Amino acid sequence: MNIRLADDDDAATIADLEAVAADAPWSETAIRDALELATTVAWLAEVDGRQAAYLLTSQVDDEAEVLILGTHPYERRQGLAHALLSHAAAHWDASGVHRAFLEVREDNTPALRLYEQHGWTRTGLRRGYYRDGCDAFLLAWEPTC
Ligand SMILES: CC(C)(COP(=O)(O)OP(=O)(O)OC[C@H]1O[C@@H](n2cnc3c(N)ncnc32)[C@H](O)[C@@H]1OP(=O)(O)O)[C@@H](O)C(=O)NCCC(=O)NCCS
Repeated sequence: MNIRLADDDDAATIADLEAVAADAPWSETAIRDALELATTVAWLAEVDGRQAAYLLTSQVDDEAEVLILGTHPYERRQGLAHALLSHAAAHWDASGVHRAFLEVREDNTPALRLYEQHGWTRTGLRRGYYRDGCDAFLLAWEPTC
């Protein structure tokens, strides 16, 4: 597995992965727009030359947010999302981020387990947040020291 920073040129690759990974995928345009922002930091994970997982984050001053994260369905349970989140946490530690946020569907057990393994804690509930009426948990992360 190799993890590298992603940039504007990776929009189509990330959109292809997002289309098969996410329930409500961001469009290629939305991904490109995000990648063009100076506040976005993104990573791609590849396995044997295959682009397999992605993480887009946003950072403003000492706060960060997970925008989208996904692993290709054929590449799951190999630790790719784990590795991407570890990269993000190391980056946040090094760049003085004091708090990170994200929203996750309350029925997304894989993602909830993943985030909780990484020290994210539930700080709120947004009722009916998703288009189908599903609630969202608000999760937060803080550096350990
Ligand atoms: C959630 C997701 C990103 C996990 O990706 P992944 O690369 O398979 O995750 P990893 O292999 O790094 O797994 C890390 C941990 O996540 C949890 N996890 C991942 N898949 C899981 C599953 N199907 N069931 C339960 N826990 C799961 C486990 O705690 C796992 O650790 P373990 O393997 O030691 O038990 C992937 O399932 C996905 O793309 N889902 C659709 C998109 C999505 O939900 N994104 C997050 C939106 S906030």
